[in-house]
Amino acid sequence: MAEAPARHGPKAADGPVPAEEISELLEVVSREPACAEAPPSTLDAALTPNDRFFVRNHFPVPHLDRSTWRLEIGGKVSRPLSLSYEELTGRESRTLRALLECAGNSRRAMYPPAEGVPWNHGALGAAEWHGVPLAELLAEAGAFDTASEVILTGADRGTEPGVRGTIAYEMSLPLEKARDPDTLVALRMNGEPLSAMHGAPARVVVPGWYGMASVKWLTRITVSAEPFRGFFRTESYVMIPEGPERGSPPPPVTTLRVKSLITWPAEGATLPPGLYSVRGAAWSGESPVAGVELTSSSGRDGSAGPWLAAKLLDEPSTLTWCRWECPIDFRVEGHFVLRARASDRSGNSQPLHARWNFRGMSTNSIHAVRVTVRGPR
Ligand code: MTE
Repeated sequence: MAEAPARHGPKAADGPVPAEEISELLEVVSREPACAEAPPSTLDAALTPNDRFFVRNHFPVPHLDRSTWRLEIGGKVSRPLSLSYEELTGRESRTLRALLECAGNSRRAMYPPAEGVPWNHGALGAAEWHGVPLAELLAEAGAFDTASEVILTGADRGTEPGVRGTIAYEMSLPLEKARDPDTLVALRMNGEPLSAMHGAPARVVVPGWYGMASVKWLTRITVSAEPFRGFFRTESYVMIPEGPERGSPPPPVTTLRVKSLITWPAEGATLPPGLYSVRGAAWSGESPVAGVELTSSSGRDGSAGPWLAAKLLDEPSTLTWCRWECPIDFRVEGHFVLRARASDRSGNSQPLHARWNFRGMSTNSIHAVRVTVRGPR
């Protein structure tokens, strides 16, 4: 017997994403699933243009039809909801700036190599998101205060090693984080309706958390009294330490660790001798950035120079990055390594090498950039 079509189900996934859908301004890290990162220079701005915003997919990109798409809200609620796109856009909305950083960003800097998509430092972008606070939808549906978690389900499906059959991309948030006024069901990105690649027609944006929680192609929100045991929450986005299994489940990846990146000069740059201003971006999900310091191996004997305080150019917040700049004296020719380290108001600061974990999650080692200073010859 033919299977009855799902009542409000999305159109089926159309298969692997055509190569032309990945913006050519991005560096492709994987074609299937489509994963592509931004070159570091594009992070040198308050907002990342949509065509330079990294993409991280686990499964083929679903192309959903706005006119038939619905968002279901159920589980531990007193008034289950089923909203059309128009109904959602009619709700009270907010606009905020927030960055998304993939939990695997900078994985390539981890040694020994960790398991996963080999991201350099560009699985990161900041955008202006417009949408409906998830808290409003939970209140409208009458989410029970006794619930503990909110499960977010995307329309994309596929297979994962060790898992039987196909699964949807699903992630959960503690009820408190789901009710944070900054957690949005976003409909627009940098003023434009979401593209298919970034989760159209609606996605979640969870500022202050790694990107895995910002579920794209959102179709269902389930309020739950039980801890969510789905693959992506308990097996994929977790910190697996080196050594024998300890019996207790590995801790989930959640809040963005304090981190900074040097956005200029680029890795491997050659500059004529002179005075320069190094630029970068810094962020932390736990508390606003307190400061950024820069050093270079600029002593005459090649030893590390002192750490210099950078100037913060934006008001630090836990939602998005704050840009910084720091003057550097490169009047002497040579080979240098610039290193930038950020700290936040909770007293966290970047380690020289982040502690190794099997999947290279939440890597926030101090970013180092190699620079040659050489005059014209
Ligand atoms: N949502 C769905 N439905 N499927 C996914 O594969 N990837 C997550 C998150 N939301 C993902 C998803 C991860 S790991 C990240 S880092 C962000 O989406 C990336 O968002 P972007 O592709 O818009 O940059």
